[in-house]
Amino acid sequence: MRKNIVAGNWKMNKTLGEGVDLIEELNEQLNGTQVKCEVIIAPPFYLLPTATQLTEGGVIKVSAQNCADKESGAYTGEVSAAMLKSAGVSHVIIGHSERRAYYGETDETVKTKVELALKEGLTPIVCIGEKLEERESGKAFDVVKGQIENGLFGLSAEDFGKVVLAYEPVWAIGTGKTATKEQAEEIHKFVRDTVAAKYGTQVAEDLTILYGGSCKPSNAKELFSMPNVDGGLIGGASLKSEDFMGIIKAFE
Ligand code: PGA
Repeated sequence: MRKNIVAGNWKMNKTLGEGVDLIEELNEQLNGTQVKCEVIIAPPFYLLPTATQLTEGGVIKVSAQNCADKESGAYTGEVSAAMLKSAGVSHVIIGHSERRAYYGETDETVKTKVELALKEGLTPIVCIGEKLEERESGKAFDVVKGQIENGLFGLSAEDFGKVVLAYEPVWAIGTGKTATKEQAEEIHKFVRDTVAAKYGTQVAEDLTILYGGSCKPSNAKELFSMPNVDGGLIGGASLKSEDFMGIIKAFE
């Protein structure tokens, strides 16, 4: 089912004490209240078991920022989907543009990671989005389509229905340059139509598509008001409870 989601991608930020403080601040403001969207935080790997313990029985769900493209074994430094599951994690971000740009991830690794995550019952939050030069040369639609086709269209309709997508134009991430609500809507609508052509309108209508890229309290409401924007994947503005709460409240 299509959901409204606000997910905070902490990236490589927060030491243990800082992370615990932020989770406790969010718990205090969210638990026992009527929240109009699903709230997810994605701390770094080392904080995940702490995060799942601190949020147990509350509003916040916990996501990882990545998982290995292998099941288990001699892969130093990697963390598998099964390990995440065992730590109580429910979601995993896959194919973030920073993973693609700095760690050589491709649509092929995305495909493998999504399959492994689904096998463990984790919800993959799969990131897609074009770079600035791709947008400027009119290729944004083709890039996004290729990422979806190559990364996800090998899935059965049932499995595809378990995936959340995040459209994150690379030129908007951490740059302060947000896509306009019209730019976001145009791609989100295109993504939904692309999914409809492959899996049918019901699967497409049920798909949750988040926007990411310099989303903040001041622009969240207008972005989320668009018919095909179902929430946000938030980087910088997820690191302070006031900012993150401001975005969550955009759904009130
Ligand atoms: P940003 O990052 O909100 O800091 O632009 C978004 C993301 O990379 O998920």
